[in-house]
Amino acid sequence: MAKWLCTVCNIYIYNEEKGDSLTGLEPETKVSDFPDSWRCPVCGVARDKLVQISEEEYWLKAKAYTDFIEKKEQIRSILVGVDNPQTTPELRQEYGKPLGLRGIGQGLGYLANFKALSKYSLKKRLITEHEDPVTETTFLGKTISIPILGAPMSGLSYVSNITEEDFAYNILEGCKVAGTIGFTGNTSKDYEIMHPAIMALKRVKGHGVNIFKPQSQEVLSELIKQSENEKTVAVGVDIDGAGSVNVALSGKPVFRKTIDELKELKKSTMLPFIVKGIMCEEDALVAVEAGVDVIGISNHGGRVIDSTPGVADVLPEIVKAVRETEEGKRVVITADGGVRTGFDAVKMLALGADFVLVGRPLAREAVSSGVEGVKRILENLKTDFKIAMIMTSCNTLEDINENILIKSG
Ligand SMILES: Cc1cc2nc3c(=O)[nH]c(=O)nc-3n(C[C@H](O)[C@H](O)[C@H](O)COP(=O)(O)O)c2cc1C
Repeated sequence: MAKWLCTVCNIYIYNEEKGDSLTGLEPETKVSDFPDSWRCPVCGVARDKLVQISEEEYWLKAKAYTDFIEKKEQIRSILVGVDNPQTTPELRQEYGKPLGLRGIGQGLGYLANFKALSKYSLKKRLITEHEDPVTETTFLGKTISIPILGAPMSGLSYVSNITEEDFAYNILEGCKVAGTIGFTGNTSKDYEIMHPAIMALKRVKGHGVNIFKPQSQEVLSELIKQSENEKTVAVGVDIDGAGSVNVALSGKPVFRKTIDELKELKKSTMLPFIVKGIMCEEDALVAVEAGVDVIGISNHGGRVIDSTPGVADVLPEIVKAVRETEEGKRVVITADGGVRTGFDAVKMLALGADFVLVGRPLAREAVSSGVEGVKRILENLKTDFKIAMIMTSCNTLEDINENILIKSG
């Protein structure tokens, strides 16, 4: 008999053979025979949102669902599609609750990322010579199968039973097996021996990037040294972590950084150095002058300050300003915020990013389905990314530029 998955929360699974005592369904009840009043016990949508899945996928999802049932209230806001408009309102993050996956304040910065991307459509163009698109590229000297990377994230241990180290490992390893590179984040949680992000990096033999909060120069240089020992791909700071009250309150003060401090950090390591969290030309140009290798255009997914523009709103002007400088021509530019599909990723590249980072979709999988889940999301992204390239007549990544976009908003 058939097995089903709820496409909205991506957690609820139903086995027709077993039925579901939680929602009052006898064994051998088919989905087509569900009462009209039936609602998904995880996210509250009706039965038409269930899709049939394979035996293999059912068992893959089974653990996440059991975990959810066990820790229901605790992890509800993390796993349920809090950024999904179809989710019933009572399950979304509310103002005043601890920072969840959605965003700080009213979530305006968070929502702006989606709005900004939706202002652009892809120009479908098909009467050209057909070639299989090449998506392989190199990120800081490492070959990757697609210009999509796993965004640095942390703090999931506060809202689920996963440890910071395991979470970071799931992201790094999931990215690695999908042929790309993941980043680690940095939360206020204390650690006794070694930073959990560096422990995770050790487990993947250095195949990842460590991004640290903008703590004191001394703390940062010590963390950078530890990353170097594990042969990480690159290190960096999320400069927009400067406002993180949580991190500061836990005894790890965070600061804005001057150009001289950035220069000092860059000089302190042989590794490529990243500054993530840039949202204006002024900061981008200073970062270039400081000699950084990678600039991450990001509003931190709307989690650190409310009411910023969306990343896709500011990306083209920042890229233009950076590329107009001699030094800026060699700088790698990443962008993140609101990228949910390969189509979104292609749009970000067309707006000038060299690489795209994906956050929440990977976080949810890293908590619920582990390495396999992270890998599966990246594979879906890759499939859509290729489709977008074929349908816009882009054979190589270099072909992806503003000419494939139509601005509608
Ligand atoms: C739960 C969570 C934790 C995050 N933690 C960090 C972090 O520790 N360091 C960092 O640089 N960015 C952090 N971010 C921001 C992401 O790296 C990224 O900028 C953002 O999530 C991208 O938007 P998206 O989730 O819409 O893809 C976090 C994001 C989320 C959702």
